[in-house]
Amino acid sequence: MCAANDNELKALVRERFTRTAEVFGDYAVAHRVTEAERLARMVSAGPSDRAVDLACGPGTLALRFARHVRWICALDLTPAILALARSNAIKDGLANLVCALGDAQALPFGDGSLDIAVTSYSLHHISDPAKVLREMARVVKTGGHVGVLDIVVPEDPKIRELNHRIEYIRDNSHSRSLARSDFDRIFAAAGLRIVATEVHGHPRTFDHWMHVAGWKRTDPAYIEARRLMQSSMADDGADFHPSFEPADVVKHSEEPEIYMVNTGIYVAAEKI
Ligand SMILES: C[S@@+](CC[C@H](N)C(=O)[O-])C[C@H]1O[C@@H](n2cnc3c(N)ncnc32)[C@H](O)[C@@H]1O
Repeated sequence: MCAANDNELKALVRERFTRTAEVFGDYAVAHRVTEAERLARMVSAGPSDRAVDLACGPGTLALRFARHVRWICALDLTPAILALARSNAIKDGLANLVCALGDAQALPFGDGSLDIAVTSYSLHHISDPAKVLREMARVVKTGGHVGVLDIVVPEDPKIRELNHRIEYIRDNSHSRSLARSDFDRIFAAAGLRIVATEVHGHPRTFDHWMHVAGWKRTDPAYIEARRLMQSSMADDGADFHPSFEPADVVKHSEEPEIYMVNTGIYVAAEKI
């Protein structure tokens, strides 16, 4: 249940983020300001820094980082969503933000040419996240900072499997969510010393989570993902902490809202 190879995964990513560019892009830019600012603080973004936000989507991190740093490149694989980053930057008057089409696994920068490399909610879409970390470490100078924000799953293989099944039904460009030990391993392997880690839950409704992935309540993928999510309620077997609110169960007895939590991890590191 995932793409066979890197090219196939990239094609799925482009298809997915072209189709959902508007709905996902509007949501991410409007609702992830706090997350972007938290990561900016964690990597000590400052006025002399040159930075890259890779797999930038609509510019979720780059649009905030541009307010702190000297220059930032927003890079993404999907032209449709990168166009949103560009138009958002113009709308916000951010002349120090440039956009580039590219692959996070092969960054178009020289060794040690930047101060900061960041990425958010991207590693789980990429076939080789360790390679992305190596690239981030390569392009920043010694003492430079690398920051990652992504979803995180528990180490338990059974929970990971059900979590992946649900994620993959929602989005077939989902490759693999990482656990805490995976982050520790790929940062260390890239020569990065972790200086801060934070884990935050992001509560939302299942309906909204599916909506930003482009699904309606009547779609078969919505119905199947909801069935699995509901089946995981008793033991939280997929780590989404799903629940019904008693008031909703009374109001809409057949299809009450499911409340859930996406768990995100922020990792900030220094190149040694
Ligand atoms: C879930 S979105 C996250 C976007 C943005 N960083 C945010 O937090 O809102 C994932 C993004 O990763 C991009 N992406 C996936 N694989 C990529 C790759 N190999 N290189 C560059 N971008 C990639 C997609 O095009 C998409 O814009």
